[in-house]
Amino acid sequence: MSDPTRRTVLRGLAAVPVAAAAAGCSTTESDHRPSFASAPPAGKRPLPIPPLAKSTVTDDGTRRFDLDIRAGTTQIVAGVTTPTWGYSGAILGPTLRAKHGETVAVRVRNSLGEVTSVHWHGMHLPAIFDGGPHQPIMPGGTWTPTWTVKQPAATLWYHPHAHGTTQRHAFRGLAGLFIIDDDDPVSRELPHDYGVDDVPLIVQDKKFTPNGNLDERDDPSAGLLGSTVTTNGIADTYLNVTTERVRLRVLNGSTVRFYNLGFDDDSEFEMIACDGGLLEAPARLRRLRLTPGERAEIIVTMRPGLTRVLRAYPFEDDNGIQRSQPAANFGLADTFDIVLLRAANTLKPRPAPPTALAHIPPIDTNGAATRTFLFGQVSINGATMDMQRIDVQTVVDTPEIWAVTNGVNGVHNFHVHDTRFRVIDIDGQAPPPELAGWKDTVNVRPFSTVRLAVRFSDYTDARWPYMYHCHLMYHEDYGMMGQFLVLRPGEKPDSVIGQGGGGPHHEHGAPPR
Ligand code: C2O
Ligand code: CU
Ligand code: CU
Repeated sequence: MSDPTRRTVLRGLAAVPVAAAAAGCSTTESDHRPSFASAPPAGKRPLPIPPLAKSTVTDDGTRRFDLDIRAGTTQIVAGVTTPTWGYSGAILGPTLRAKHGETVAVRVRNSLGEVTSVHWHGMHLPAIFDGGPHQPIMPGGTWTPTWTVKQPAATLWYHPHAHGTTQRHAFRGLAGLFIIDDDDPVSRELPHDYGVDDVPLIVQDKKFTPNGNLDERDDPSAGLLGSTVTTNGIADTYLNVTTERVRLRVLNGSTVRFYNLGFDDDSEFEMIACDGGLLEAPARLRRLRLTPGERAEIIVTMRPGLTRVLRAYPFEDDNGIQRSQPAANFGLADTFDIVLLRAANTLKPRPAPPTALAHIPPIDTNGAATRTFLFGQVSINGATMDMQRIDVQTVVDTPEIWAVTNGVNGVHNFHVHDTRFRVIDIDGQAPPPELAGWKDTVNVRPFSTVRLAVRFSDYTDARWPYMYHCHLMYHEDYGMMGQFLVLRPGEKPDSVIGQGGGGPHHEHGAPPR
């Protein structure tokens, strides 16, 4: 294992030069600049591509990454300098990449003046390395979680999760992608040239004060709902496309905003993966809904010279919001241009995705007990988050049905740490194809019930809990979160939960209406 060539990242090409990637130049396939029918669109900037994180593989085979959480400034809007936070940069963070079976370690340093944490959203890992509210990183401190990647290829992400400050920290810019690769031959048949035909797309919304700072004041019913949409950290972007097909790894990294995505020419696209990995088969869609925390990988087919806008459309059905509360309050009536795709005059061939992508086993709920979760305005089963209360005790490798009901006329979704679940049904109906794969976050519309097949494996811990919560960070910070332990059969919880002291606390004002 001490072969020196293993010490450097090969997969990473550690820095795809951002400008080159955004300009569509690929030295691997062409040494000339692609030509375009017209000049770049006025007022738009090339989509920035988050760099791939550098890593080193040490003698024990562990892939090691470093992240430094720090403050900086970003021109989110061209010409306006805005103070932002980022991981090893001014905003967002590098894309971490590791392979199924690999052991990773991430040394995270907190160079901010306040406590934060880093949660690995979608990752199956021991609770003590989960990065939730029980793993605060003090100012000037470091934290080095380590785990073995035991899940198939997927687009995961990382973001802050300290108790009561998640929304503000994420809104300031803290978020990054964590891509898992595996040896499944299907991966090679899908576009996989990072930043060229395999493009990360972190979609967020921001709002500003008149002097160009981020406006961190909550709207009383919706939290931080911005009117400026950003892609990979900045507003008004375009992506030069040089291949017949391009794969977009879309993350709704917004704090509360829902998106109903589609193209301006109403063309179909193929969704190939959801939160936890590949779907069984590509799903042909014209619209795709993503709630905060959800991911989708889509394949867009382009023609030479074509431009096409990925747009967020109003929710035709108000996402089920009933009339007493205008859906516009939750941003469900808004339209935004997300990113303009601009195809070169000649495109390199890329085959259609395979018609069979993954084997998604049928859901087996035989003998599984049901737990119920009822949402209030910001509560789950009538309670709000208590760092010293365990809400749910599960037993490792025991399948359960989680029946999640939104009991109020408001927007919520549901996220479970550590695992990938399956949607059994939504109000008794089988899920649509885009929700039929492995999920970790799901929309729960007003007055509807989503039943999930949930199971936790490999890791047990009687002291350190995982979280489940609404991923609208405004709600999460107000306590719409619970804690669960994964125990061995017959094991009892420790008398001390997490750090015991409850960690740093954050006092809230009045809860949302
Ligand atoms: Cu993406 Cu508990 O979070
Ligand atoms: Cu998570
Ligand atoms: Cu919610």
